[in-house]
Amino acid sequence: MTDRRYITTPIYYASGEPHIGHAYTTILADALARFDRQAGREVLFLTGTDEHGQKIQEEAARRGIEPIRLCDQMAERFRDAWDLLDIGYDRFIRTTEEEHVRIVQAFVQRLHDRGHVYAGEYSGWYSVSQERYFTEKEIGPDRVDPISGRPVEWVEEENWFFRMSDFQEDLIRHIEENPDWIVPEVRKNEILGFLQQPLADLSISRPKRRLRWGVELPFATEHVAYVWVDALINYFTASGAVSAGAAPDDPAWDDVSGSWWPADLHLIGKDILTTHAVYWPTLLMGAGLPLPRQLLAHGWWVVGETKMSKSLGNVIDPLQLRDEYGADALRWYLLREMSTGQDASFTPERFDIRYEELANVLGNLASRALGMTAKYRDGVVPSASGSGLDTEVAEAYAAIDDALESYRVHEALAAAMDLARAANGYVESREPWAQAKDPDRAEELDETLNTLARALVVLSAMFAPVCVQQMVELASRLGLEGVPTLADARRVEMSGRAIEKGDPLFPRIERA
Ligand code: MSP
Repeated sequence: MTDRRYITTPIYYASGEPHIGHAYTTILADALARFDRQAGREVLFLTGTDEHGQKIQEEAARRGIEPIRLCDQMAERFRDAWDLLDIGYDRFIRTTEEEHVRIVQAFVQRLHDRGHVYAGEYSGWYSVSQERYFTEKEIGPDRVDPISGRPVEWVEEENWFFRMSDFQEDLIRHIEENPDWIVPEVRKNEILGFLQQPLADLSISRPKRRLRWGVELPFATEHVAYVWVDALINYFTASGAVSAGAAPDDPAWDDVSGSWWPADLHLIGKDILTTHAVYWPTLLMGAGLPLPRQLLAHGWWVVGETKMSKSLGNVIDPLQLRDEYGADALRWYLLREMSTGQDASFTPERFDIRYEELANVLGNLASRALGMTAKYRDGVVPSASGSGLDTEVAEAYAAIDDALESYRVHEALAAAMDLARAANGYVESREPWAQAKDPDRAEELDETLNTLARALVVLSAMFAPVCVQQMVELASRLGLEGVPTLADARRVEMSGRAIEKGDPLFPRIERA
């Protein structure tokens, strides 16, 4: 495994407010980035906003403002939301940035110069909601896009095309030779199934008379780049592999080794799998660039049977949940509740159950261990040798390692919670309150309290990528400078450390 990791989220359309779906992908990426940093890796974590195209142009017109004003506002909204949810991205990219625009132009010019594009006529069914064409088969008799359920429109126009079909065989071979390139497997099979039909070429432009809001094609200035081509290239722009001023034949394009390119992991929802697993790799092949190392397509948050989405009007506002329960609780719920890759149903009842788990298992353990150390040992962790909970700690480490290896974040978190549960069980079985009553059992009590303090240190490290704020708090109450890395956590010396009892980490919340 490399000691550097470049992780990306999709860039979100600047036409709507951040919702739970966006928050989920971004929190998942953030937690993975934090686990990586904890393991000593250098990380580039990229997110941002997708700001060109018909969808944005139409939304701006609807609001009676210039598209760039809308994008400025929404980029700010996404940034604020991510700050409030403790997302520690390294770079927030906007596709209207000058640097990105120039790289898109050089990229498409490179495709042109390498003989992969041609002008032609296009006709087909276009979905503004998804910003892409769908086939007759996909839209069915009702002529709606299969993802948002919105009507599609018939478009006939002159376009520039990318010879995507030329790369079909190479793409199939790549997927077969790299069985983990698309995870989970069901998504890989979906793409391999899709690739059994001959690939059509990809329309990569829109005439300006229909769409002005986009990146002008350098070789056909009456056209702008198709928004998905523009958007996908963001991952490359942010890698710093070529500078904005680099010509399409600059040698930097042929040697990206010193840069962050290729990305290690593109995190996406299953709704945008085709664009990432077919358009993007073939465009990169056309430009002569290495492919990203892995794509992880997660499932949808659904309400009842339907996907939560702005167009369906059933979205949950993540910031409202955060105001009520705190960012840690929202992050915990989303990551613990959804099995990576599968759909999950959002319900307030499940949210409460997950919150109570934090409060009653982890929070309660901390209160008890810190409280008893304060009460029985004047707030100083006693020294003791003992090996209480060592087996459970080792098991939790192994389970987390194994789960993270294949992005089963929910399982890693379950293993951490199981350790907290085991530690509560240890308290029950040791009965420190009884040990405290009997002067002959002072050593036993020392061992109990020391063991619990050490377990809490380990737990602070295991939960820190998700419960960012309260684990910093817990570490500080344990007398530590900050949350230790996972590797260091099991070696921290707790004997003699002054702790602080404090208020409950996850207080009881009365639902309004
Ligand atoms: N702008 C494109 C992506 C371009 S990437 C080069 C786009 N944007 S979006 O605003 O529609 O966000 C889509 C992403 O949001 C999905 O891929 C997924 O990550 C997330 N989600 C949106 N709704 C979702 C759910 N209901 N559930 C889970 N995630 C979903 O598509």
